Amino acid sequence: MQKGLKRKDLLGLKDLTREELNILLETAFSMKEVLQRPIKKIPTLRGKTICFMFFEPSTRTRSSFELAAKRLSADTINVSSSQSALLKGETVLDTLKNVDAMGIDAFVVRHASSGLPHFLSRHTGASVINAGDGMHEHPTQALLDMMTIKEKLGKLSGVKVLIAGDIRHSRVARSNIYGLLKMGAEVRLFGPPTLVPPEFEKLGARIYYDKNEALRDVDVVMGLRIQNERLKGSFFPTIREYRKFFAITPHDLDNLDKKPLVMHPGPVNWGVEMDFDIIKDKNNVILEQVTNGVAVRMSVLYHLVSGEKEDEEITD
Ligand code: CP
Repeated sequence: MQKGLKRKDLLGLKDLTREELNILLETAFSMKEVLQRPIKKIPTLRGKTICFMFFEPSTRTRSSFELAAKRLSADTINVSSSQSALLKGETVLDTLKNVDAMGIDAFVVRHASSGLPHFLSRHTGASVINAGDGMHEHPTQALLDMMTIKEKLGKLSGVKVLIAGDIRHSRVARSNIYGLLKMGAEVRLFGPPTLVPPEFEKLGARIYYDKNEALRDVDVVMGLRIQNERLKGSFFPTIREYRKFFAITPHDLDNLDKKPLVMHPGPVNWGVEMDFDIIKDKNNVILEQVTNGVAVRMSVLYHLVSGEKEDEEITD
């Protein structure tokens, strides 16, 4: 096992070093081996308590974090906006402080407000893990994306990754840009100019507005859905036009000499950002990304919550 992270929180990939990313990925691969054992459970977090605070909908992130915590033998509780005293006017901060008073080791937070996990982390001694904050970051999604690329292609350095779709409103795009660039990958962005603003070049990504140029010689195509819940205004005329000019189609991929991995963080709006028939592409690894999400979240919980900071083995 790699030496642990010396961090209380995981709020984003922007501040992580390449060494820390390597540690998290290496441990995720070890956790994946645990998940392939007949008994997929280790006692690493026995006696620890993880609180999930999801104030936005989630299928993959929430269930894989919960499964990861259970695989590590932690106790878990859930606080949501629809079934908590938030409905009676309690603030998110008061909610955190009250639950924290019960003895929590880590909060996993998803919220529509960018920066909320950072704010909460200043008010608790527990670890805070960002499970997606507004348009800011979704660090564990980018980690599982990087794990999947490394697993499939054997490396991240030098890999050409095209992220296609609504980049402007995407926390997944931002975390992937930070993480992939640190690991030596090339990151290309493609979509309508309204959804791929030039500022993204300042982060080190290359912007393309021509789909054929964007796809030339890529190793990975990562689709992103239009983040309708964050759209304020009109960014393209109609879905039909969006689909015509910006969707990734089997025809686009058939024209390429080298067949790229096809990825998507989900949920996929099939027939909008990706043609329905992409689901049948032999390089579609979307569900393998989901599988790796459990291992990545086990790695993050292990490093932040176990309190074990030195070299050690994962034992059962
Ligand atoms: N990729 C992702 O964050 O999916 P969920 O919204 O289902 O968690």
